[in-house]
Amino acid sequence: MTTTALPDLVGRPIDELPTPAVLIDVPTVRRNIAQMAQVARDFGVALRPHWKTSKCAEVARMQLEAGAVGLTAATAAEVEALVDAGIGDVFWAYPPVGPHRVGTALRAARRTRLIVGVDSLESARPLAEASAAEGVDVEVRLEVDTGLRRTGVDPDDALPVARRLAALPGLMLEGVFTHEGHVQGLGADPERRMEVGTAAGRLLAEVAERLRADELAPESVSVGSTAGARSAPSAAGVTEARPGTYVYGDENQVAIGTVDPADTASTVLSRVVSTQRGDPVVVDAGIKAMSSDGSLHGDGRIGTVVSDSGGVLATGYEEHGVLRGASPLRVGDLVRIRPNHACGLTNMHDHVLAVDGGIVVDVWPVLGRH
Ligand SMILES: Cc1ncc(COP(=O)(O)O)c(C=O)c1O
Repeated sequence: MTTTALPDLVGRPIDELPTPAVLIDVPTVRRNIAQMAQVARDFGVALRPHWKTSKCAEVARMQLEAGAVGLTAATAAEVEALVDAGIGDVFWAYPPVGPHRVGTALRAARRTRLIVGVDSLESARPLAEASAAEGVDVEVRLEVDTGLRRTGVDPDDALPVARRLAALPGLMLEGVFTHEGHVQGLGADPERRMEVGTAAGRLLAEVAERLRADELAPESVSVGSTAGARSAPSAAGVTEARPGTYVYGDENQVAIGTVDPADTASTVLSRVVSTQRGDPVVVDAGIKAMSSDGSLHGDGRIGTVVSDSGGVLATGYEEHGVLRGASPLRVGDLVRIRPNHACGLTNMHDHVLAVDGGIVVDVWPVLGRH
């Protein structure tokens, strides 16, 4: 897809589109946004969706219009892109390590409300020094590990770390947060998900209480994931939820039962380019179109066909996808493929095509990919 051809795509039916192309079904996105806004309202928590799933300003604006208090970002490029798009109140949920991240944080904090996630004194100190030197106060949230074992301070160490963070010049301790990503790792077990997600929210709220008893004042107690979106924010004391993937859904969420297939919005439109092997047939969506995110089905697939032929994209070369188990297809036939992971798919493309009723209604640039 070349940039010059893009404006011509608006108004075209999908069978005329160049392939591979990412299609985003706009009514589904709107429904997902409205549903998650309602989930947050029901729990009485603020919603700050993770923007890495769409990286589209258009989606961020829809989420804000539906009541989100701001957005969450992972990379420096996402923070810059949001601020450049005039979208403020950003939580950068990533340690500000390295001079480029410190620079991005300071620039962004001058232009909008920015909160930065830190999980240690070491990760916070360079930002504190730079912000104190420039006279810009930056808000920070302390990350607490509630079970994912990725980043985040151990809950028992949170109080001493928070005390020392709060004492650093140039920073203001705004709250605590966790990413309960281990809930997704539990697979298709709704009861266990509910138990573990709620426990993650409770643990974070307990940490916040310990900080309050010590006269620190964490305002935000923020959880965040799609698999835990209906459990972690239910814990008393949680004030904010940051799910991301929900906005598009994907095959991995379908595999574990956290997203209904009808609520998935992103697919890759692809054409059959060779039937020389019979079954499998070969399509023009390989790993560079789909991303190589793994499948929670456990069978190594890189995508799942949702159009009539059925079948799975069993493996992929760079530009060739190997489609198995489909009903007979001919060269030139179109298939639509659901990605394993919506966020990984987005990050592979410069643009996505917003579709409604099988017609392209807009071309949305994917921002902050680098
Ligand atoms: C810090 C943080 N918050 C929120 C999310 C959103 O989680 P999900 O993509 O499951 O919705 C992620 C996802 O990786 C994350 O890393």
